Amino acid sequence: MPAPDNNKGLGYITSTLATPVSPVEAALRPLSFADFTGQPKTVERLQVMVGAAKRRGDPLNHILLSGPPGLGKTTLSFILGHEMGRNVRVTSGPVVEKASDLAGLLTSLEEGDLLFIDEIHRIPKTVEEYLYSAMEDFRLDIMIDQGPNARSVRLSIPRFTLIGATTRAGLLTAPLRSRFTLQTRLDYYDIPTLEGIVTRSCGLLKVAIDEGGAKEIATRARGTPRIANNLINFCRDYAQERAQGKITRPVAAAALELLEIDAAGLDEMDKRMLRVMAENYKGGPVGLGTIAVAVGEETETLEEVHEPFLIQEGYLQRTPQGRMLTTKGYAAIGLKSATGGDQGSLL
Ligand SMILES: Nc1ncnc2c1ncn2[C@@H]1O[C@H](COP(=O)(O)OP(=O)(O)OP(=O)(O)O)[C@@H](O)[C@H]1O
Ligand SMILES: [Mg+2]
Repeated sequence: MPAPDNNKGLGYITSTLATPVSPVEAALRPLSFADFTGQPKTVERLQVMVGAAKRRGDPLNHILLSGPPGLGKTTLSFILGHEMGRNVRVTSGPVVEKASDLAGLLTSLEEGDLLFIDEIHRIPKTVEEYLYSAMEDFRLDIMIDQGPNARSVRLSIPRFTLIGATTRAGLLTAPLRSRFTLQTRLDYYDIPTLEGIVTRSCGLLKVAIDEGGAKEIATRARGTPRIANNLINFCRDYAQERAQGKITRPVAAAALELLEIDAAGLDEMDKRMLRVMAENYKGGPVGLGTIAVAVGEETETLEEVHEPFLIQEGYLQRTPQGRMLTTKGYAAIGLKSATGGDQGSLL
């Protein structure tokens, strides 16, 4: 392998997507492990793999990053490229429509490069099968021509690293999943960690904020750095228009009230889900599809974006019969649980 260059700017990232990376996100994205806070288990696993691969002079093994949106999957993929001193080629599952798209991507890589496939669960099944031999043996058997002239051509491809990212690890087929050496899941961030991320982002954006302001934003960010960064932008505007320009605790609280984000970070859709469950279905059990129709949202969005946070924070429970609202869930929408008592309708 050619010698890695650890001093690259963002030029090591190339993309097949029309809108590769939003400029605001790019500005705030940590570029090295040292800059990235939180996710200690995942980070340590990745550091072990990077350290060992570099010591041996081998490409990094294939890695699958899963977890809800905005927790840092793309960020970590870019960090892996940076730490390895290799290029990252970015694409997305639905964009790789045909085996020839995959062949084009893979043959354009250099040895040791990273191929980042976002939303890998949406890669077409016909293409997925080609990935198996590419990941395992670094070869592709492509059929060219059709009918009597059809023949298979074997392409050798450079030893590369596949980094797959998905919000729906459960939708990956077992054969694909098993070809990743490491499968690691990102969790929601705790409030102190998010507070650190808010402070860092405000520093980079030159936004005036005090400790109370950072804590308030962190508390209402649903455990998600991307949301925290979005809230910072709105709070900054609010501070400029309605206060003295600095994000303090009361300024942040007032700004986020205006966005209808409550003290625990629940947004309008979270609350609508809870309300539908309480008012229309007596707290459940009720199927997610039914809730989705009632709130007018896609089942997938509820399952990927809203439900994981509501479950982790104990607002609702998943049972074989369907979703159930907990006492905390009732309290969040200002209601008492149907059956009263501490455990509410769960007992
Ligand atoms: N640990 C972290 N420290 C600081 N900022 C972070 C961290 N994780 C994520 N971010 C910020 O959050 C934003 C969203 O992260 P990222 O794009 O990596 O999420 P994702 O998991 O890829 O989401 P999606 O599933 O929607 O693609 C980034 O712009 C980045 O600045
Ligand atoms: Mg991403």
